[in-house]
Amino acid sequence: MAELFVKQAKQYAEGRPNYPEELFQFIASKNPAKDLAWDVGTGSGQAAQSLAEIYQNVIATDTSLKQLEFAPKIANVRYQQTPPVIPIDELEQYVSAQSSVDLVTIAQALHWFDLPAFYQLVKWVLKKPNGVIAAWCYTVPEVNDSVDSVFKPYYAIDSEPYWDPVRKLVDQKYATINFPFEPVEGTDHTGPFRFVSEKVMSLDEYFTYLRSWSAYQTAKEKGVDLLRDDVVEKFKNAWNEDGQDRKVVKFPIYLKIGKVGNL
Ligand SMILES: C[S@@+](CC[C@H](N)C(=O)[O-])C[C@H]1O[C@@H](n2cnc3c(N)ncnc32)[C@H](O)[C@@H]1O
Repeated sequence: MAELFVKQAKQYAEGRPNYPEELFQFIASKNPAKDLAWDVGTGSGQAAQSLAEIYQNVIATDTSLKQLEFAPKIANVRYQQTPPVIPIDELEQYVSAQSSVDLVTIAQALHWFDLPAFYQLVKWVLKKPNGVIAAWCYTVPEVNDSVDSVFKPYYAIDSEPYWDPVRKLVDQKYATINFPFEPVEGTDHTGPFRFVSEKVMSLDEYFTYLRSWSAYQTAKEKGVDLLRDDVVEKFKNAWNEDGQDRKVVKFPIYLKIGKVGNL
């Protein structure tokens, strides 16, 4: 699977949304110390760059070196390539020592992980009892009625056969994902909590986003171009209807958040 994100790393860096300030403020407000954050599946550093403004140090890991190459260079962020499942006795070398991390974040990536193996690592590396894990996904983009009415069948019918089954967890807004952690202070459950990311996009940028999908890459490998001429034409017509080239595209975000407890 990780291979899917290697081939379109450039589209990924250009086409994906960043995350809103409120999301990071909410997460940080549940996290007493701000020494070290580990952003897992960092891609091209979409979350790592915001974390770097709040946490003293950030370790941002990904299985794909190609994705990491497109991440911004920031003084307090260390990028690190890892295997898909890091052996627990190598976690200190790749990431940090036992019980040393304040926050683990996973942005739009948790559904790809081997969850039981990953959670073992998270529990080992987080500070006890208040170390926090925050994982979020975003679902489909919202533009306006015209564009969204072209998007809906494109997503639900055209692209559907090319998504990995784990994508269902995203469609279900992480409501069903296994998440064995305790509610953080001030909440009585671990989410999902809803936020919204907004990105101003031209039509070309919107297409870049659609091309950054793993489903787009999978289809391409099977000889199918999901953005066929007739589909492109439909999007163009819908996009140009209001005469505005650049539009605000909204991506609803669903956050799961919990603390590790004493185990
Ligand atoms: C959809 S992208 C999300 C990237 C970024 N976090 C963001 O918010 O846009 C998923 C990322 O997870 C990485 N990935 C997939 N499986 C992984 C694993 N087992 N461990 C670490 N990273 C993984 C992929 O290489 C890819 O960069």
